[in-house]
Amino acid sequence: MINDKKVLYSGMQATGTLTLGNYLGALKNWVSISDEYECFYGVMDLHSLTIRQEPANFRKNARNLYALYVAAGLDPEKNCLYYQSHVSAHAELGWILDCFTYMGELNRMTQFKDKAAKHADNINAGLYTYPVLMAADILLYQADLVPVGVDQKQHLEICRDIAERFNNLYGEVFTIPEAYIPEAGAKIMSLQEPERKMSKSDENENATVRLLDDTDTVIRKFKRAVTDSGNEVRFSEDKPGVSNLMTIYGCVTGKTMEEIEKEFDGKGYGDFKLAVGECVADELRPLQERYYALLEDKTYIEKCIKENDEKAQYFANKTLRKVQKKVGLTERIR
Ligand code: TRP
Repeated sequence: MINDKKVLYSGMQATGTLTLGNYLGALKNWVSISDEYECFYGVMDLHSLTIRQEPANFRKNARNLYALYVAAGLDPEKNCLYYQSHVSAHAELGWILDCFTYMGELNRMTQFKDKAAKHADNINAGLYTYPVLMAADILLYQADLVPVGVDQKQHLEICRDIAERFNNLYGEVFTIPEAYIPEAGAKIMSLQEPERKMSKSDENENATVRLLDDTDTVIRKFKRAVTDSGNEVRFSEDKPGVSNLMTIYGCVTGKTMEEIEKEFDGKGYGDFKLAVGECVADELRPLQERYYALLEDKTYIEKCIKENDEKAQYFANKTLRKVQKKVGLTERIR
């Protein structure tokens, strides 16, 4: 607990440009819960190094991600928005926790297997211990809650296992975090292959809507979205394309699936796709305006980064010192 509030921790990797899926599935919810909890949101740049990055591009992506957090509505005065790499405690606790994690546990991680298959030429040790660094992220802030998608559930489980193991050995050092399942929020699928999740790294640009796509691009991508046979706007498992578009429309407008079905009763897919495109473009426009204004105002962003880095360091170091002491590392002389 900090200031009588539960602590909530999450973050995104600083690679590629965020998609509508990241926004509707995560970011938009983060904004809606930021009053209720003491929130920490990292730009997870150390994790991004597990895949080879082109330095200039990487730096730009990390800066853009920070600005997008703010532009999406996360108030940097209320939420701790910071760069993971600016808080060295992450790497330090990560190392200590490496020594409390078994290879057998890491061998079971499905994301490691997937990524190793995808990047067969660079199966580095960081990719392997990725979940341990993630555990350090969460445990450093004594987080109670971690909003994560299904793809990160296994990582949260191993984090809990590591924390419990450590607590059993040394006493109550870490808060055991729980998954936070938001009320709203949805899994957004690819516009071209609606059986697959919308992904930042999809090579087919028509499959993903990016948060910085302009209105024409957004509308064009929705017009090209894959729908299903038939012409009825109906939410159902055998209509993954249309159902995905309905989910998007529902997330943005707040309408239920029944309301949407009624609204487009007797109209074709064309009208529906245009309506979805327009509502998404309307939602993104103010975010984009704030984003471009923020990039102009360097002093403001830099002030936010500096203050929040310090805040994160304060809480993280508190936990790290405790851990160092518990495991028997020699205390510093001051
Ligand atoms: N692994 C997460 C992802 O790719 C990002 C992440 C790193 C994270 N550390 C975290 C998410 C801690 C939640 C908590 O989505």
